[in-house]
Amino acid sequence: MTTAKKPLVIGNWKMNLDYVEAVHLGQQLGVMLKNKPAEHTDIVVAPPFVDIRSVTSIVESERIPMDVGAQHVSAHDNGAHTGEVSISMLKRLNVQWVLVGHSERRSMYAMTDEVVAATLRTVAKNGVKVVLCVGEALSVREEDGQNEFISAQLHSALEGLDENYRELVTVAYEPIWAIGTGLTASTEQVGEMTSHIRSVLFKLSLSEARVLYGGSVNGDNASSLVAESNVDGFLVGGASLKADSFMTIIQSCDECYDGKR
Ligand code: PGA
Repeated sequence: MTTAKKPLVIGNWKMNLDYVEAVHLGQQLGVMLKNKPAEHTDIVVAPPFVDIRSVTSIVESERIPMDVGAQHVSAHDNGAHTGEVSISMLKRLNVQWVLVGHSERRSMYAMTDEVVAATLRTVAKNGVKVVLCVGEALSVREEDGQNEFISAQLHSALEGLDENYRELVTVAYEPIWAIGTGLTASTEQVGEMTSHIRSVLFKLSLSEARVLYGGSVNGDNASSLVAESNVDGFLVGGASLKADSFMTIIQSCDECYDGKR
């Protein structure tokens, strides 16, 4: 067993919600958090780029206790990179977290391990928190190769990371076969992988990093996952698009941290 860390729940809105819808969801979360504060849980939402300004404005003006993150960023600082967004642009909008290497970026937009490592360093050297996403495909798990696969992803992204940046790192384990499929990994599968990830992080001098699970997390499965899988929270896709289900997930983490582990 490792020491329990303060839970973290991140809503990855993916390519959903225009800025009007995003503001609406932000406001709903603000009201709910005022009525039922999550005292022991850090909360982040990661809207599409074009919604970020509106969401940060609401969060700041209404003092909603959550941070705003981005789903991706360029590995480059600036220049001729049509369609990309830089980390300094995000910092100007008070973005405090960036997801790096989400499996949808890796598989659909050719984000290689090298680009993941370079992006992670770009984010970290700017003092912004990184959520490194790792996860194996179903074919890898069917051959029982998940531990080696995840070790390789972690080493490739984190080996040799400047020690000043270590406190900025969170790891999200998201098995590709569980993302958006309704097929959640079992508490045993998540527990085994969380322990494996923690042992790799220990060797990389990153034992303080939080380890999240993502993949079809919802209001029904969150409490057993957080209670039994030794995770420090969740990266939530579909269920973060509705205030009710996202709040249920946050509350599950909050209650679990509050004396139960
Ligand atoms: P999901 O997505 O919760 O919809 O499975 C998780 C993610 O991709 O971050």
